[in-house]
Amino acid sequence: MFSIGNKFRLTVFGQSHSAAIGGVIEGIPAGTVLDEDAIARFMARRAPGQALTTPRRENDRPQILSGVADGRTCGAPLAFTIENTNIRSHDYERIRDVPRPMHSDYAAAIKFGGANDIRGGGQFSGRLTAPICFAGAIAAQLLADRQVTIGAHISSIGSVEDSRFDPAGVCAADLRALSGMEFPALSDEAGRAFRKLIAEVRDAGDSVGGTVECAAVGVPAGIGDPMFSGIENLLARALFAIPAIKGVEFGAGFEAARLRGSDHNDPFEMAADGSVRTRTNRHGGILGGITTGMPLVFRVAIKPTPSIALEQDSVSLSERRNVRLAIEGRHDPCIVPRALPAVEAVTALVLADLIAIPAR
Ligand SMILES: Cc1cc2nc3c(=O)[nH]c(=O)nc-3n(C[C@H](O)[C@H](O)[C@H](O)COP(=O)(O)O)c2cc1C
Repeated sequence: MFSIGNKFRLTVFGQSHSAAIGGVIEGIPAGTVLDEDAIARFMARRAPGQALTTPRRENDRPQILSGVADGRTCGAPLAFTIENTNIRSHDYERIRDVPRPMHSDYAAAIKFGGANDIRGGGQFSGRLTAPICFAGAIAAQLLADRQVTIGAHISSIGSVEDSRFDPAGVCAADLRALSGMEFPALSDEAGRAFRKLIAEVRDAGDSVGGTVECAAVGVPAGIGDPMFSGIENLLARALFAIPAIKGVEFGAGFEAARLRGSDHNDPFEMAADGSVRTRTNRHGGILGGITTGMPLVFRVAIKPTPSIALEQDSVSLSERRNVRLAIEGRHDPCIVPRALPAVEAVTALVLADLIAIPAR
């Protein structure tokens, strides 16, 4: 439930308002010097308190409890915590009885018989993507040593769309440039339009969804296994751990269903260096669940934030009657910018687990 990976394995724990959240990472090669600046930069991209996200300010600094000695990983599990400091639990008293439409409150109340921690969304909170990002940043560092680079951009917000990656030509430099942007969009114009829409929606007390496109380049051909252990299977399982992700499409995705084979097939060709590549990349770098050596390219759909200021219909679970619900508290008007680093992080976790990391 809370663990992912075999050779490189992450277990996550905590709730939004417990004393801390954190995780245990197994499989980091002993002797690795963690790039603390890169990890901090990665985590800052997810943290709240930026323009157009929730005004909650949380200190997302991980405390490493074990697994590092003399500045290097020592082969033992790396356990870490991230304190939960910015907590206003009284915001959540009413929704214990009146579940928020489209949040996990009702389903969790049934499953856990009302014993679930409702504060801040409990174990279902987007805050749990902080430990995922910490582990993902470490996985990305290990992958960078093997010339694998992962990056993502916001491809749409509401009905405003940006262009997409060139799936056959996207390169590591393109992806690294995006990671330095506070609001990663391929075109400045789309970036401005995205921000404008999010600000409008926020001022209206509402929320909006969108899509993120992610790519990984430098992934060697031949990684992944058929049937239940394909790269698509593993990535989808990991991506759906990020709250609010509702869809994943690889390569041409759903568009492929509208095409003929002659329009959809990616022709093979010999590259100048003697390797086999495809001229186009509608297959998104995966065939038969196995990588082809072309960039991995996929998109995820992220729903609008469930908690909105506008009044909505719900029910009182104790009084068994319909009621109106006005949600208070500090919520993201759009989850997309903060989910984006988590998309990169789970991709790094999946790939680090598959691309053999030699034990030293
Ligand atoms: C980074 C991030 C931040 C989120 N912030 C909020 C928020 O402020 N308010 C809210 O209602 N949901 C927020 N969510 C979404 C909920 O956690 C999610 O919709 C809920 O747990 C139900 O799960 P599901 O949407 O996957 O079905 C956030 C999700 C992520 C990834």
